[in-house]
Amino acid sequence: MTPTTRTEGCIRFVLNGEPVEFAVRPDTTALDLIRNHAGLKGTKEGCAEGDCGACTVLLRRGDGPRRAANACIMTAAQLDGTELTTVEGLKHDGALTPLQEAMASNGSSQCGFCTPGIVMALTGLVENDPDPAEEAIHDALAGNLCRCTGYRPIVEAAKSAAKAGLPAPSAASLPPRQEEVAIGGSVLHQPRTLADLAALRARYPDAVILAGGTDLGVARADYHSDWHRIISTAQVAELRAVTETDDGWTFGAAVTWEEVLQAVRDDWPSLATLIRRFGSTQIRAMGTVGGNIGTASPIGDGPPALIALGADITLASAAGSRTIKLEDFFLDYRKTELRSDEVIASVTVPRPKPGEEFRVYKLSKRYDQDISTVCGAFWLAMEDGKVAACRFAYGGMAAIPKRAKASENSILGRPLESDSVEEAIARLADDFTPLSDWRGSADYRMKTAGALLRRLSHDLAGETVEVMAL
Ligand SMILES: Cc1cc2nc3c(=O)[nH]c(=O)nc-3n(C[C@H](O)[C@H](O)[C@H](O)COP(=O)(O)OP(=O)(O)OC[C@H]3O[C@@H](n4cnc5c(N)ncnc54)[C@H](O)[C@@H]3O)c2cc1C
Ligand code: FES
Ligand code: FES
Repeated sequence: MTPTTRTEGCIRFVLNGEPVEFAVRPDTTALDLIRNHAGLKGTKEGCAEGDCGACTVLLRRGDGPRRAANACIMTAAQLDGTELTTVEGLKHDGALTPLQEAMASNGSSQCGFCTPGIVMALTGLVENDPDPAEEAIHDALAGNLCRCTGYRPIVEAAKSAAKAGLPAPSAASLPPRQEEVAIGGSVLHQPRTLADLAALRARYPDAVILAGGTDLGVARADYHSDWHRIISTAQVAELRAVTETDDGWTFGAAVTWEEVLQAVRDDWPSLATLIRRFGSTQIRAMGTVGGNIGTASPIGDGPPALIALGADITLASAAGSRTIKLEDFFLDYRKTELRSDEVIASVTVPRPKPGEEFRVYKLSKRYDQDISTVCGAFWLAMEDGKVAACRFAYGGMAAIPKRAKASENSILGRPLESDSVEEAIARLADDFTPLSDWRGSADYRMKTAGALLRRLSHDLAGETVEVMAL
């Protein structure tokens, strides 16, 4: 289909405290809009795929706080009805903020290319955590690459800025999100209810279903594809909800990983550790649980962990909804149970019960901001020192995230000790025939999948094991 130049509306949002509107196609990248339409050149383009942080901006959606996000993989569609702050919008009464002052006086910038992105990432941190621990500062910088300064003076600048405090962000009222806007041959729908989302999905089965855009934005940049019709899930009340009960949580599909982290951190600490290694703060602020599952990547981090925890997934269409085990959702490489008239509505994750143990280990080439080579997730219910029930799920070992049922069966009813663990490791060969790719060879994957099971047994025995990059 050839795009037309029809303009029937504008993308409306607040930019650096002022209401603005731009007649740009909804699939324009936010970075293009900022630099080339708004003429604000402080936001830089480095990698254009969410990795380097040079394009970091602050985004406020609904009642939420401002959070750091990557403008290069965000689209104008995601700006409608929000507040966007670029580095030009940080000055307060014409003066630099204490963080900017500290970056300048501390020698935290040399060539300066990364500096605006770093300032925005750290501003997002200190606004949401006014007294950040050193670990939180490192976490906040995991998505920002600096090639010439070194991170120590940057971390020091963050600490002194936190001590000094930052000016309160503006509280500009947001323009209402438009339910439909068509510009230049690209149409954006922003339904507010699951029923409306399902009706649009049935009517436009070829439309792009856009959640946080952290996968779609990279794919769009790689393939230079145009999106002629976008259905955003960001406004759908049911998909944005977190429902907590004594039994667990139901996360709407458009709940972000940052929000999942806040919900589960006390009950499932190992899951929280995994989520802290999920991309960067920028990616976790935008990327959603439904998007991670919808992408159906064999190396996505969410699915193995959620499968091992026994999560259910609810799929909805105009005809109704159905709930299945998440492990049954993935059929073959990037093929899932999702029909063309369905959307992912929610994921339900149980809370821990007495005697249950859960560990998830991510093995990647780099500790931060990297996708898994192998991810192993292990849930066990122990009774009288023996494994009464278990679910082991791996990513990176097959075309889909998958349970290791032969390995599980070999350990059921036995204590978790050297013989039973080594047998469970041997049985992994019945469960998986991994591929070799640039992340790791088949042999490496088999060996490390076993090593993760061995690590589980050491961890549950309370022994300390030093393993690089786990
Ligand atoms: C720099 C970077 C680092 C990353 N690091 C990690 C990592 O460490 N671990 C990891 O697992 N992933 C990682 N990712 C991938 C990505 O961030 C996650 O998969 C994320 O959860 C995707 O969510 P999203 O909301 O951004 O999805 P989107 O990009 O909006 O959508 C992804 C897919 O899901 C579909 N979809 C979204 N919502 C629904 C719905 N409700 N119903 C049906 N289909 C839907 C979309 O149509 C699309 O096909 C990274 C990505 C980047 C760019
Ligand atoms: S330009 Fe590198 S993260 Fe956006
Ligand atoms: S100061 Fe040059 S890349 Fe950071």
